Amino acid sequence: MMATVMITGCSRGLGLEAAKQYLADDWKVYASCREPDSCPELQALARDYHQLHLLDLDIANNDSIDSAVRQLHGQPLDLLIQNAGVYGPGASRLETVEVEPWIDTLRINSIAPLMVVQRVLDNLRMGYDPTVVLLTSKMGSMTDNLSGGSYIYRSSKAALNSVGKSLAEDLRGEGIKVLLMHPGWVKTDMGGPNALIDAATSVRSMRQVIAATTLTESGSYLNYDGDPIPW
Ligand SMILES: NC(=O)c1ccc[n+]([C@@H]2O[C@H](COP(=O)([O-])OP(=O)(O)OC[C@H]3O[C@@H](n4cnc5c(N)ncnc54)[C@H](OP(=O)(O)O)[C@@H]3O)[C@@H](O)[C@H]2O)c1
Repeated sequence: MMATVMITGCSRGLGLEAAKQYLADDWKVYASCREPDSCPELQALARDYHQLHLLDLDIANNDSIDSAVRQLHGQPLDLLIQNAGVYGPGASRLETVEVEPWIDTLRINSIAPLMVVQRVLDNLRMGYDPTVVLLTSKMGSMTDNLSGGSYIYRSSKAALNSVGKSLAEDLRGEGIKVLLMHPGWVKTDMGGPNALIDAATSVRSMRQVIAATTLTESGSYLNYDGDPIPW
């Protein structure tokens, strides 16, 4: 039977690349983004692959999650890649950081991922060797933070790490694996042109790691090449 993945934030960057790679590997793909009708790359993929299903989903909006997930009713999910995320405003320095944009970023990066998981839990329970991957960042690591600053992004990914660890423990008994993955510093709109690797390299490597990990490693914080990252 065809394996099935749901990926959020597929309009560009790592999400779009992940959708392409899983489709090329014959997976059934539920690719979500805000306004799929305005995303030419996804529309082109949908013409080439009948097993691609596009979902209109703003992860920061619970009604939007509910209506997207309704389209998955009864559909087993083997893999959820919660990829959608934002950097937040600018450098968020000590002197200039503000409350409202911080809260907006926490909502998208730290809270919304769990709201998505909450609503597809029954689909994951029906999946084969089900896995949840939360795209986090090394910038959420306390140990790795030797340069300070970036209050908003760092704290949002650190909070996501905490959410992912609890989720891993809550779902371990049901055999659902949860991985917190850093994709590397990747050339995307978020990573910028000076980043170290391209999206294809990052996704190819993460796919191998996802396929190789077992329930024992659930709750791990991993680099895209599978190396553990210190919390
Ligand atoms: N690139 C890197 O170097 C790097 C490093 C560490 C971690 N990451 C993480 O990897 C993930 C993907 O990053 P990327 O580099 O591919 O970023 P990107 O190119 O900026 O793409 C971000 C994606 O998230 C979507 N998104 C943002 N807010 C959303 C919302 N409220 N609802 C639905 N979708 C939303 C965007 O959709 P729209 O097109 O609609 O805005 C876009 O598809 C993020 O979680 C990021 O934090 C990236």
